[in-house]
Amino acid sequence: KTPRRVLGIETSCDDTGVAIYDDAEGLLGHVLYSQIKTHQEYGGVVPELAARDHIRKVIPLVDAVLKQTGCDPSSINAVAYTCGPGLAGALLAGSAVAKGLAYAWNVPTIGVHHMEGHLLAPMLEERVPAFPFVALLVSGGHTLLAHVKGIGEYRILGQTLDDAVGEAFDKTAKLLGLGYPGGPAIARVAETGDGTRFSFPRPMVDRPGMDFSYSGLKTAALQATQKNDLDAQTVADIACAFQAAAVETLVIKCERALKHTGTDRLVVAGGVGANLHLRDQLQQTTQRRNAEVFFPRLEFCTDNGAMIALAGCKRLHQAQTEFSFEVKPRWSLE
Ligand code: KG4
Ligand code: ZN
Repeated sequence: KTPRRVLGIETSCDDTGVAIYDDAEGLLGHVLYSQIKTHQEYGGVVPELAARDHIRKVIPLVDAVLKQTGCDPSSINAVAYTCGPGLAGALLAGSAVAKGLAYAWNVPTIGVHHMEGHLLAPMLEERVPAFPFVALLVSGGHTLLAHVKGIGEYRILGQTLDDAVGEAFDKTAKLLGLGYPGGPAIARVAETGDGTRFSFPRPMVDRPGMDFSYSGLKTAALQATQKNDLDAQTVADIACAFQAAAVETLVIKCERALKHTGTDRLVVAGGVGANLHLRDQLQQTTQRRNAEVFFPRLEFCTDNGAMIALAGCKRLHQAQTEFSFEVKPRWSLE
């Protein structure tokens, strides 16, 4: 069997990730640099600063992953990189390095769809989900449910009509003075919150279909912050009620998607998939339905190079030897 070993580079937003995935041996190694500190003082990702940071970090990280795995560059069969969707400048930084390495190593490249990387991330784990499955992709930029029949065979069942769920977490955290990134901060303070003090709407659950909407929930949280003194307990109570509403909406739509497709496997991916309350609720719901749920480990829920190396490996047959390139800041999964 010919070896299939891919080096993957992720630079679509504020994480620089590099990894090596081998089709026979699995994930050989991965390294990650998070730019959180760079963007924290601005309360969100600053695109220009993100691009500059990727340029600084990506080659040292390639060097680090080669050293960590002991791989010789001559054993790499292709270089995969995130081609989109994402921040244009950030994508260009990773793509340019990927093309340069491929030119130097005389191997082809594979431009990977960032969301495909996320939805295949559970395949990095020991318990690999079989096709077909329903995938819930929940990140800072996306909230969607897809029916996945195989690599590249994706049908979108529903998506957000306004804010992404991660974006709602981030914006609500900002209102509560919890800083960036908001998801982990809300989850942390929600632990000490009283979930009965506030009751927020579960948007769209009374309507058929699998689309989502988060602007109404965000507004409800805004009104709660305006009507109350934001002492530590109130912040915790609002965070708790917000998280409960956001998670319950996701769970209800996942159940609908499983029913609609007649599938009994659910895959969860994207940064919000790191939310422990969401994981717990989905575990309970799937158990009740005799279905299975698959999560990537927490570090592979958020952006990382491992998922890009894996997705590149699954698409090795589409590798290109073309060295001119463009990135796709907007790119549909379907
Ligand atoms: O997938 P990701 O790293 O980047 C994008 O492609 O967007 O997702 C980042 C998003 C952010 O909105 C962040 O607040 C959210 O995932 N997030 C969480 C948690 N950890 C990260 N949201 C809720 N609970 C968490 N524990
Ligand atoms: Zn992502």
